[in-house]
Amino acid sequence: MRLHDIAVVGASGLVGRKILEVIQERKFETGKVVAIASDGSAGKELNVKGKTFKLHKLEPHIFKNLEFAFFSAGGSVSREWAPKAAEDGCIVIDNSSSFRMQDDVPLVVPEVNRQDMFKNKGIISNPNCSTIQLVTALKPLDNAFKIKRVVVSTYQSVSGAGNKGVTALESELRGIQSASASPFAHKIAYNAIPHIDVFFDDSYTREELKMMNETRKIMNRKDLQITATCVRIPTLYGHGESVNIEFDKKVNADEVREALIQAKGIKVVDNPQTNHYPMPIDAADKDDVFVGRIRVDSSVKHGINLWIVSDNVRKGAATNAVQIAEEYIKGK
Ligand SMILES: NC(=O)c1ccc[n+]([C@@H]2O[C@H](COP(=O)([O-])OP(=O)(O)OC[C@H]3O[C@@H](n4cnc5c(N)ncnc54)[C@H](OP(=O)(O)O)[C@@H]3O)[C@@H](O)[C@H]2O)c1
Repeated sequence: MRLHDIAVVGASGLVGRKILEVIQERKFETGKVVAIASDGSAGKELNVKGKTFKLHKLEPHIFKNLEFAFFSAGGSVSREWAPKAAEDGCIVIDNSSSFRMQDDVPLVVPEVNRQDMFKNKGIISNPNCSTIQLVTALKPLDNAFKIKRVVVSTYQSVSGAGNKGVTALESELRGIQSASASPFAHKIAYNAIPHIDVFFDDSYTREELKMMNETRKIMNRKDLQITATCVRIPTLYGHGESVNIEFDKKVNADEVREALIQAKGIKVVDNPQTNHYPMPIDAADKDDVFVGRIRVDSSVKHGINLWIVSDNVRKGAATNAVQIAEEYIKGK
């Protein structure tokens, strides 16, 4: 058996720690593991599932002779260091949005467009967390019934904003003002904030544009009509998405349910009579994309409504990144 030498950049962050966890859970066979964080953390130790990792800082040629480098330390770190890691011979799997829309960088969800990863030039991008769960559910429906238009509204947990997001909610709930350290524009406890990332001139946020553009790229559907509204809510782990889909042809809820039951990576939880539908609290710490509330939207021609939930730190980031490495090793 061949062992894989890897680096995790941002190892002390929410996504980086989860990558180290997922690697152990999935028995991804690692040799050397170089855990990297900011200069201030260098030398400290990180304990993940009983394994201790010494934290290193970024320095020239730290990536030499490693096979994979998982990056989850934000856009500026990726922009500076991911090309260097690729030059040093690593396959970079990048969680930031820095390279996602570049033509020469594959943007991959293995259940949807596995083959694209082999067209890389050293960097493979992991999509935005909200995009990953959306396309995992949309792709099998597009294959079966051809999607015309998608309207998605998100209900995103605070962990989507990393360690600082979780700390902000937890301290606000304890009555401690977190304003200065909070990554959110307003108090998040007991609130819903229709604002994730920065606003552009057309009044969409960057998070909304990411969802729209990344979905078209991953599904290889430049023509797909899609609009998004992204909202931060005070849940800890797991993003919810209310999705309205218009198809080219007539479909009923049972056909949609059946296509999703057959799809990879999806669990259908759809029994309203017994109060069974996907919720963040149940999806947290799981790898599946959960879909429920599947019903016909009779206000449009060939419309379906559904509700998608998935753990943003796992399938939305860490698990998808590790799956990319696993599939890369298996080959074309
Ligand atoms: N959270 C999510 O749901 C999610 C989902 C998809 C993608 N992402 C993306 O993944 C990345 C990380 O997100 P996160 O939620 O894990 O953030 P986080 O919890 O804030 O962690 C950030 C990590 O980056 C490290 N870091 C910061 N500055 C650094 C530097 N100059 N050099 C090296 N390491 C540095 C931090 O180290 P210290 O501990 O030393 O500060 C920490 O390990 C972001 O690009 C984010 O957009 C996040």
